[in-house]
Amino acid sequence: MSEEETNTPGADVPHQAAAPDENGTGIASGPGGSGPGGSGPGAEALRVEGISKRFGPVTALRDINLHVRAGEVLGLLGDNGAGKSTLIKIITGFHRPDSGRIVIGGEEVSLRSVAHARSLGVETVYQDLALVDELPVYLNFFLNKELTAGPFLRHGAMRRQAVDALAEVGISIPSVGAEVRALSGGQRQAIAVARAVNTAAKVLLLDEPLAAMGAREGGQILRLIDRLRQRGDLAIILIAHNYSQVIDVCDRVNLLQHGEITFDRPTAETSVAELLELVHAEYRMA
Ligand SMILES: Nc1ncnc2c1ncn2[C@@H]1O[C@H](COP(=O)(O)OP(=O)(O)O)[C@@H](O)[C@H]1O
Ligand SMILES: [Mg+2]
Repeated sequence: MSEEETNTPGADVPHQAAAPDENGTGIASGPGGSGPGGSGPGAEALRVEGISKRFGPVTALRDINLHVRAGEVLGLLGDNGAGKSTLIKIITGFHRPDSGRIVIGGEEVSLRSVAHARSLGVETVYQDLALVDELPVYLNFFLNKELTAGPFLRHGAMRRQAVDALAEVGISIPSVGAEVRALSGGQRQAIAVARAVNTAAKVLLLDEPLAAMGAREGGQILRLIDRLRQRGDLAIILIAHNYSQVIDVCDRVNLLQHGEITFDRPTAETSVAELLELVHAEYRMA
């Protein structure tokens, strides 16, 4: 049995595996705080080198090298089964790589768990979002890190802080008291992203946030990603399937094919046509 299998499935879910101390001391620097290891705009936030991962007979990743800087949005493209989610799960501390190095904020780390990666500023928003339908927006925002005064929940404080945090990323939700189930897919996605970055996040991993979303909603999420880029202190990896959206919002694009990075280029120096051609070539060879 490999080590990650000792993680419960719940550990895969943002905000399920909170830091061991729930009382606010788990994260050393506040939102936007610049910790050690050079986290200013342009500094390298994350680097992986020589990462490989097998699942039994399946080689999911082969000698992966990838990096992303603060203030940069890296698009990660690739066919179904290429290994994108496996790579994200390694960076988020859920899977252990078979080999290779992970460097976060200039320091090599050996990630023990999702909570460990989160304590180093790595936040992930998965497609299923891990929102609780029956709870209002503001309680979802503080899921597993509720503000309390003795035995009581500080509803007013949580409401106000949720409103502020959503406003800060430019999201307007009619009422933070509304149950999440009443919201659209785009609003839910926006809440999950805002929740993830309302932390000491340095690296934000978005695994197909635009899947199952209409053009207008997808556009809202892309504008949110663009505003987060402009903060300058956050490195973002965006997995998406729509090449023109990736070219629009990302600074650089990596293509993952059969477990290997085959293409790394600034988006300004490539095009939808070139990306399509690379992927079509893959089909012709198959
Ligand atoms: N937990 C797992 N156990 C066994 N095989 C897996 C597991 N996770 C992913 N794989 C396999 O690894 C390969 C890459 O999968 P994945 O990373 O999910 O690809 P993508 O996200 O690019 O669609 C696929 O062949 C997939 O079947
Ligand atoms: Mg995937």
